[in-house]
Amino acid sequence: MIQGPEPEATRRIAGATESSRANRRWWDRNADDYQIEHGDFLGDARFVWGPEGLDEAEAALLGPAEDLKDRAVLEIGAGAAQCSRWLAAQGARPVALDLSGRQLRHARRIDLEAPAPTGPVPLVQADAGALPFADASFDLACSAYGALPFIADTARVQREVRRVLRPGGRWVFSVTHPVRWAFPDEPGPEGLTAVASYFDRTPYVEQDDRGIAVYVEHHRTLGDRVREITAAGLTLVDLVEPEWPAWNRQDWGGWSPLRGRLLPGTAIFVCEAR
Ligand SMILES: C[S@@+](CC[C@H](N)C(=O)[O-])C[C@H]1O[C@@H](n2cnc3c(N)ncnc32)[C@H](O)[C@@H]1O
Repeated sequence: MIQGPEPEATRRIAGATESSRANRRWWDRNADDYQIEHGDFLGDARFVWGPEGLDEAEAALLGPAEDLKDRAVLEIGAGAAQCSRWLAAQGARPVALDLSGRQLRHARRIDLEAPAPTGPVPLVQADAGALPFADASFDLACSAYGALPFIADTARVQREVRRVLRPGGRWVFSVTHPVRWAFPDEPGPEGLTAVASYFDRTPYVEQDDRGIAVYVEHHRTLGDRVREITAAGLTLVDLVEPEWPAWNRQDWGGWSPLRGRLLPGTAIFVCEAR
């Protein structure tokens, strides 16, 4: 296969449409590699919140597992729907939403290779910024690094999640810890020295030789996230910063045991619909 030149990494403005288009294509192109590289760590039916390996079975951020039975749960940016499969095994009724058709193909592949007694997870291909569901149609919503790091207008996602949740429903999502934006995204010692402003919200963009974005990530400070959550009609009930556990010796991109001992890598926001 003929490969083009490596994309250029830069910081520049990237709006909602450009970010969504770039990321859908990027995840379609990279879904196979992502599942090959991380599939064992994620498990087919585990609910892992991030590279530290915090597992919902222990953390119970969505509430006690026994209370999940019969709950309608929306998983946003579900990838191969591993978290949804764990939720289904607890008796919940998950729907797994993702922008990337290729990621959802992996969800279907896992359902076919290892059929669960609860049947295949219902899948929806859509952008998290425009959820194709009626108001108040879910009891719970969750996202493990899905969608939010990649979306320009995350305030809109918070409003959309609030809209589809019933009052009192929980919304739990994990993202890269905002402080990481001040550091190079490297797992080694070069990732331990701050080189950029934590306050610089300019998106990280990889672009091709015509200047067209092929990958985009968006930064929000902790305060930005809290303001977006509360403005959407949600209450922040906890902010979890998982510590790197001794058993986890695996690097995941810029997340590593070395950096995990010193810096938070993941922020998990636990919210409730007012
Ligand atoms: C880091 S992966 C996480 C996937 C899965 N939650 C996991 O833990 O493996 C991010 C996922 O977000 C999806 N995504 C990116 N932008 C999105 C958007 N605008 N709407 C919905 N999903 C999106 C990607 O396709 C990808 O599957």
